[in-house]
Amino acid sequence: MRTHHCNEIRPAHIGETVTLIGWVNTVRDQGGVIFIDLRDREGITQCVFRSEISPEAAELSHKLRSEDVIQVTGKVEERLKTDDVDTKNDKLETGAIEVAASQLTIVNKSEVLPFQLDKELSNEDLRLKHRYLDLRRPRLTNNLRQRHIITKAARDHLSDEGFIEVETPILSKATPEGARDFLVPSRINPGKFYALPQAPQQYKQMLMVAGVEKYFQVARCFRDEDLRADRQPEFTQIDIEASFVDDNDIIELIEGMLSSMFEEARGVKVPTPFERLTWKDAMNRFGSDKPERRIGMEMVDLTEELKDCEFRVFSGTVASGGVVKAINAKGFAGISVGQVDKLTKLAQEAGAKGLAYIQARDTDRSTWRSPFVKRMTDEEVEALRTKLNIEPGDLILFAADKWEPACDVLGRIRLEVADYQNLLEGNDDLDFLWVTEFPLLAYDEEEGRHVAVHHPFTRPLKEDEEKLRNGELDGLRAQAYDVVLNGYELGGGSIRIHEADLQSSMFKALGISDEEANTEFAHILDAFKFGAPPHGGIALGLDRVVMLACKEDSIREVIAFPKNNKGAEIMTSSPGTATSTALRDLRIKSTYVEKPKTEEAAE
Ligand code: AMO
Ligand code: AMP
Repeated sequence: MRTHHCNEIRPAHIGETVTLIGWVNTVRDQGGVIFIDLRDREGITQCVFRSEISPEAAELSHKLRSEDVIQVTGKVEERLKTDDVDTKNDKLETGAIEVAASQLTIVNKSEVLPFQLDKELSNEDLRLKHRYLDLRRPRLTNNLRQRHIITKAARDHLSDEGFIEVETPILSKATPEGARDFLVPSRINPGKFYALPQAPQQYKQMLMVAGVEKYFQVARCFRDEDLRADRQPEFTQIDIEASFVDDNDIIELIEGMLSSMFEEARGVKVPTPFERLTWKDAMNRFGSDKPERRIGMEMVDLTEELKDCEFRVFSGTVASGGVVKAINAKGFAGISVGQVDKLTKLAQEAGAKGLAYIQARDTDRSTWRSPFVKRMTDEEVEALRTKLNIEPGDLILFAADKWEPACDVLGRIRLEVADYQNLLEGNDDLDFLWVTEFPLLAYDEEEGRHVAVHHPFTRPLKEDEEKLRNGELDGLRAQAYDVVLNGYELGGGSIRIHEADLQSSMFKALGISDEEANTEFAHILDAFKFGAPPHGGIALGLDRVVMLACKEDSIREVIAFPKNNKGAEIMTSSPGTATSTALRDLRIKSTYVEKPKTEEAAE
């Protein structure tokens, strides 16, 4: 149907007769002569309809509207350039030429669109309802293509390294990755349910026992959890597992793979190796296990300096075993009252009692605005000045609490302040890093038991293995690693447990009874009895990788048909209702009536 695509014709083609097909991007009527920007996925070519060339085509061109599909044949001409007028368009790659139409076929008319394609639209649901139109925008077309390029780069890299892609079941069994499962009722096994995989974790470990040695999969994963800009209920992982490897092998593999993915997508060389931070360091310095380091503002520990401070919030916290930490928001002493209130609210929502601050207006402490600075000695003030490098105009923010909550709260405040200060505007740097030595377990106060920080198959550090076997559960560290880019967790993985007895100790630590372990995880415990190789792996969130490569701030912009924030895919209206016949076949009652709370309690 065409001789060229719409981003192909250059001055070298002048004089040739070409045929193009695509959508009418814009129509301009200049003194009765119609100019069309014709668009296909590659780009735009200007077509002009002059009656001296073809009266029929020129007449028909007056009927064209945006988004009609048309086929145009004509001669390539140079665009006019005289001393007075220059009709060349430097912004278009085809801007030096135009096609003077001798034939026009209207292939398919378009109705008036529900929204304009060349304007940003804030109503996301409207965009998603007509996603097939939304995706015609060059930005989104490009995102889909980048996704393909990035996925291909990953596949190529892994294939070159000897990995083979193996598919694992979608109708599968619950795997504990920490989210809620999506369940699918089984018609032929009434009352039984498949779970959609939160990740192919157990299957890929079984593949290692099967001797596959190097597995990967571009794997769809399903998690019924609260949605955010970087979370969808259904998403894609580049899932990897290998035998006879240690953490350094996996880390090097991923560094090579990520740099080739970003090189293909952005044309930049990503320097490797990436820096590594232990979890403890990351929390201590940035208050996050996925630190955004490009904004500076490292956290400073002032526990020792403020332990005797007359301000009880500090000294009292230290006396009860807590810490005092602070950040210096350079040049932000002029923070507004509203912003201080917002930050304080944020701190409180994150569990802090308050947010102490100093607005260091000038050098002398008498100019400092703060609810408590008058209660500090000169030595304390000087210690702050030195450790935080306080200069006129700085804003200092403090958190006093137990170590982990203090780090966490100040870490959040740090990000919010950077946002107020626009510190990342125009910053295209890629800051990759590894966070290692995560805690193996966390204590869940509500449930009164330990839970796995990563998942129950993660191996403790060698020096902590004996402790796990002996049931000493405090402070155990994991052979786990996350790869982080610009404050986002791109992926996470670990070296696994491959011995049945150590796996049993882990289940025990998690309060899983022998009986439960032997029913829910029998396959793992059995498989580990038959010569399971040492193994480990990782999964990268492909959507997040593509989002960052495309400089988007939501993964919805890089997924063809994403769910909205209520988990609905509104173009097709999914989820939808089921017919009573379908429900009957599945032995599911067609209505679920929520019982009043009191009745439930009485039961
Ligand atoms: P984890 O649960 O850390 O590990 O997931 C790996 C990566 O998947 C991405 N991700 C998501 N992306 C979009 N929407 C979501 N709801 C979502 N949840 C997770 C993140 C995350 O880093 N089986 C282990 C991996 C392993 O141990 O090998 C796992 O799934 O980028
Ligand atoms: P107060 O003397 O209790 O009014 O608190 C003085 C300042 O300290 C206020 O700005 C509070 O928000 C702040 N503050 C209170 N508790 C903490 C805490 N645990 N960490 C940091 N700041 C706090």
